[in-house]
Amino acid sequence: MTHGAAMISEQHLALLICPSCGASGITLGGRRDPALECGACGVGYPIVSGIADLTPRPSGKPVRHYRTEALYDVIARWYDVAAPLMSLFIWGCPPLRYIDWSHRAVGRAMGGRLLVHPVGTGLLLKHVYSIHTQYPIVATDYSWRMLRQAQIRFEKAGMDNVVLVRSEPEHLPFAPDSFRAVMSMNGLNGFYDRAKAMAEMSRVLEPKGTVVGATLCRGLERTADLFLERYERWGIYPILRSRSYLVKELQEAFEGSRVRYETHGAVVFFLVDRSLPPVERPPS
Ligand SMILES: C[S@@+](CC[C@H](N)C(=O)[O-])C[C@H]1O[C@@H](n2cnc3c(N)ncnc32)[C@H](O)[C@@H]1O
Ligand SMILES: [Zn+2]
Repeated sequence: MTHGAAMISEQHLALLICPSCGASGITLGGRRDPALECGACGVGYPIVSGIADLTPRPSGKPVRHYRTEALYDVIARWYDVAAPLMSLFIWGCPPLRYIDWSHRAVGRAMGGRLLVHPVGTGLLLKHVYSIHTQYPIVATDYSWRMLRQAQIRFEKAGMDNVVLVRSEPEHLPFAPDSFRAVMSMNGLNGFYDRAKAMAEMSRVLEPKGTVVGATLCRGLERTADLFLERYERWGIYPILRSRSYLVKELQEAFEGSRVRYETHGAVVFFLVDRSLPPVERPPS
């Protein structure tokens, strides 16, 4: 298991739960090829070129969802060029905003562990990482190709404290309270079951932790809406309807936590802060 940006250590093993049955007690299996094993249900999870594939067996994803995976596998090689251009000209959001908000996420992880979910090609993480070299980071994605690009990038940059894991947002393979902060840039708009994915983020976050993220939203930019409508028709993104709906969903998933947000073009940046007292809800 020495080919990754970082190896899975005993400490990481303690963080893991089985995405298929939810039990803790994941160990390094005794098979010839490197693999993790669940002591409770016996399912094995391969480690491919240093990246542990901790997606549930069988996958919880509906077949339709493989279109999103295929899309990212196909564009992985061009993502670093395409993403900033799309952000600027289609989503109407200056790419530097992502850097600002990613810094917030990394800053909030201070003294704890950061989950980067999804990591994509690691483009943002590398840019914000250089001044925060001491953080233990776990980074996930579903697309193998995106993960491989991230791995290559982190290896070249000598970032040996980032552990890459393939996971499904609806079944995160981590124990409760594992992370002080979660950074989730442009992930929510692609997650199939958003409510479940948010509930999973809430479960793995420390009680006073923070989620910092960004997502595409409908109804904010005309050009963006044309694209988002097509994506939805092709079954690629289960799109968020509106900004107020997003805030409501986040508040529900994070039990009334305060949600701060800022909008740039069709992108809504948000920060869910569990260190502050929850917002009082009007009686329903
Ligand atoms: C727009 S990229 C953002 C990557 C990174 N956060 C960034 O800002 O550069 C979206 C990422 O989410 C992943 N993704 C999209 N839909 C997903 C899903 N339903 N399950 C898991 N990952 C998904 C893709 O593989 C892709 O790497
Ligand atoms: Zn299991």
